[in-house]
Amino acid sequence: MSLKAGIFDLDGVIVFTDKFHYQAWKKMADDMGIYFDEEINNRLRGVSRMDSLEIILERYEGEPLSQEKKEALAAQKNETYRKLLATMTPEDVTQEVRDTLEEIRRRGYGISLGSSSKNAKFILEQVNLLDAFDKISDGNNITKSKPDPEVFLKGAEFLGEKPEDCLVVEDAEAGIDAGIAGGMKTAAIGDAVNCGKADYTLGTFSDLLKILV
Ligand code: BG6
Ligand code: MG
Repeated sequence: MSLKAGIFDLDGVIVFTDKFHYQAWKKMADDMGIYFDEEINNRLRGVSRMDSLEIILERYEGEPLSQEKKEALAAQKNETYRKLLATMTPEDVTQEVRDTLEEIRRRGYGISLGSSSKNAKFILEQVNLLDAFDKISDGNNITKSKPDPEVFLKGAEFLGEKPEDCLVVEDAEAGIDAGIAGGMKTAAIGDAVNCGKADYTLGTFSDLLKILV
């Protein structure tokens, strides 16, 4: 085993913005008269903004929507979402996460973000955690979202590491699939534990210190 770096998903691993995604999509769906619930919201984890919109539109029964209209809907959702993100503070990241990332760096591992979100940097700034990452791979540097491995392969490339030397940390099955597809080692936390596909399972974030020794 020659792990040299960790590549971290953001939502559900470092911070919890699911509720904000839910509120923002719910507002858009209500405005459009589209049924939307938490179960549908769970399917949006790790999925890009436009792909998320398509999932929500599965319940849409009106006239076909132009690409322009879809982009306007996604922009409207993002505006609501960013207002909610603006309420986040450093207290939205646990001391456990901060200390663990610091210790991983002290042990000499590279640290990259691997998030589908185009708002990733904004979130990390809000919670004062941008400095904990050597590199940021996010929704702004990819064309395909998880389970495609692009976001993690970019993270490895930015760090100058081979995919097989990287550990992907994920809370979504699509993210574990992406890590596997990229030839990386995977660690599941939260919901992703249930898929049973990851190399490691984390009961809590600091369990990483038993893997990245
Ligand atoms: C992921 C979330 O991190 O980012 C998804 O899990 C979300 O639910 C995706 O759709 C894209 O986010 P954003 O911030 O670019 O709209
Ligand atoms: Mg996630």
